[in-house]
Amino acid sequence: MHLPSDLLIQVDAARLQCEIDELATCSSTPGPGVTRILFTPTDLAGRAYVKQLMTDAGLSIHEDPAGNIVGRWNGSLGEHDRVGTGSHCDAIPHAGRYDGTVGVLGGIAAVRALRAAGLVPKRSIDIIMFTSEEPTRFGIGCSGSRLLSGTMTPLQVAQLVDEQGISFDQARQTAGYSGRLEDVPLSPGEYGFFVELHVEQGPVLEREALQIGVVTAIAAPASFMVTFKGKGGHAGTVLMPDRHDALVPAAELICHAEMLARSSGSDDTVATVGKLEVHPGAINSIPRSVTISFDVRDTNRIIRDQMVAELKAMARALAEERGLELQIEEINADPPEAAQDHLIATIEAACESLDLRHRRMVSRAYHDALFMARIAPMGMIFVPSRDGISHRPDEFTSAQEMANGVRVLAEVLARLASR
Ligand code: GLV
Ligand code: MN
Ligand code: MN
Repeated sequence: MHLPSDLLIQVDAARLQCEIDELATCSSTPGPGVTRILFTPTDLAGRAYVKQLMTDAGLSIHEDPAGNIVGRWNGSLGEHDRVGTGSHCDAIPHAGRYDGTVGVLGGIAAVRALRAAGLVPKRSIDIIMFTSEEPTRFGIGCSGSRLLSGTMTPLQVAQLVDEQGISFDQARQTAGYSGRLEDVPLSPGEYGFFVELHVEQGPVLEREALQIGVVTAIAAPASFMVTFKGKGGHAGTVLMPDRHDALVPAAELICHAEMLARSSGSDDTVATVGKLEVHPGAINSIPRSVTISFDVRDTNRIIRDQMVAELKAMARALAEERGLELQIEEINADPPEAAQDHLIATIEAACESLDLRHRRMVSRAYHDALFMARIAPMGMIFVPSRDGISHRPDEFTSAQEMANGVRVLAEVLARLASR
């Protein structure tokens, strides 16, 4: 694979920063944090802005019935065996402005740079804005890429329900996405390669004063919900021996999750409880029902699965010991995925030719690339995150660092599209 020899890739870092900042104004909470939940008015405003940028970059826009947006630069060899890139623009509550958006707006910036450099692609290049990488609204992340890659069926996605009881199917139609979800999954061979640019969301690159991370694998995420149902009652009058409190075993289970992750012997094991719903939620009422979310990850699937099994076993034991009802709802248990060796080498070659300091690394966060890897050779390019912070309003990557990532992406896209 060769880069057309006279290609001079120049990225307008200031323009990209302005676009990132403009997209950050599409938020349902006041800045500096960003909240952009799937198919809400702010998400739709963000989508309109992304489509405008795609159109301005000369891309033709295709939107599928699940709301995945594709901006296509047609190659001379037609539409099969395309090169895909992109990421997501939804943002968890009170997030930063770089997670996902750098891969979408950076992808568009890469196309602008390649056009200006005079590339005439043989393979079509798609910039994809995936629907809902974040699990905020429907409880599971990457619904767009799961559907595209056949990881979830159209029926499974249609039947997802948010906390208001609105189904994915209703929500997408209200947002203007009609058509059959059955038409969303990709056919084999549509993408020859998929490469995603993303902020690292961790501290490694900054600590080592490096500019680019070349992802070798994406860790295996699993999540599930545990509900304990007890008896509740008056906080003053129900005596301690008579209680069936649903919150106390939840607290034990949460502490156990932390202990297991800390003592696994590997830095790659992480466990998080990010949501806790306590009913009825009154200071003078014994918790009657408690639902806990668990997010467990490891680069090693076996260790991840053992930890999940141990937590479920402990939940059963606690429920039995305390005379509680127990419900466990599985959300996802995805395998890890490796990046393709050839793509790793192509990204490294781009870093070398651009004289950027780089290293190989694992992605501990999940990405749409985890699912696109099921249908196309996958690679990822990371740029540094200040203090390793992400999923927080103070997430930050400088314009120059983003532009470095875009230059690498542009060079990789040029090589892949010139096959
Ligand atoms: C993605 O946002 C993740 O939770 O890894
Ligand atoms: Mn995220
Ligand atoms: Mn992300």
